Amino acid sequence: MTNRKIKILCIGGSLRKGSYNRSLLETGLLMKSAQELCPEIAELEVFDRLGEFPLFNQDLEGDPPAVIKEFKAKIKAADAILFVTPEYNYSIPGFLKNAIDWASRPYTDSSFNDKPGAIMSASTGMLGGARAQYVLRQVCVQLNVHLLNRPEVFVADVAEKVQAGILSDTHTKEKIRELLDALCVWTMRLTKD
Ligand code: FNR
Repeated sequence: MTNRKIKILCIGGSLRKGSYNRSLLETGLLMKSAQELCPEIAELEVFDRLGEFPLFNQDLEGDPPAVIKEFKAKIKAADAILFVTPEYNYSIPGFLKNAIDWASRPYTDSSFNDKPGAIMSASTGMLGGARAQYVLRQVCVQLNVHLLNRPEVFVADVAEKVQAGILSDTHTKEKIRELLDALCVWTMRLTKD
């Protein structure tokens, strides 16, 4: 890892076109190309095909559909995972849980095992998806994903902070930068190569 960039796979957004959570991801990518906010030592890739996944069926876990094989391979190839999630009814959205369930199986071939990770969330509500983050933290215990504890990035009232798909709020940008920096440091601490 000393001679290459840290590969961060970003999972999330919502399935709708105007997703604020996806805007956060795209802002992260724009930050990268501008070399403004994304740490130069990292490269971010977004996986946004969760809407193509069928509902999890354990009968198929040994030979899942191609899109899920691709998802699993991308998780395995990544040095770290960044979840960017909305909050649906005080929890994570069903499509995200469905994707996690696919990638975690078969049990002996979970793609997530031992990966460093971090979470950020955005919601139109006042808590910015905090409750969904704590649900996801519980799920990550079973996945054996080692989540960064801080900084916590909850983007509250996100509709006021994103214009035309781009995050404009300076404080939120700073918090995302802090999160990405901390995730890089965390990944280097946990990764041996
Ligand atoms: C929501 N929303 C929401 N917000 C919140 O803060 N807590 C919640 O429990 C919920 N629950 C919820 C359920 C469902 C089914 C929907 C569709 C929405 C509002 C949510 O924060 C808002 O729609 C965000 O804009 C969703 O994220 P994206 O799609 O913009 O990324």
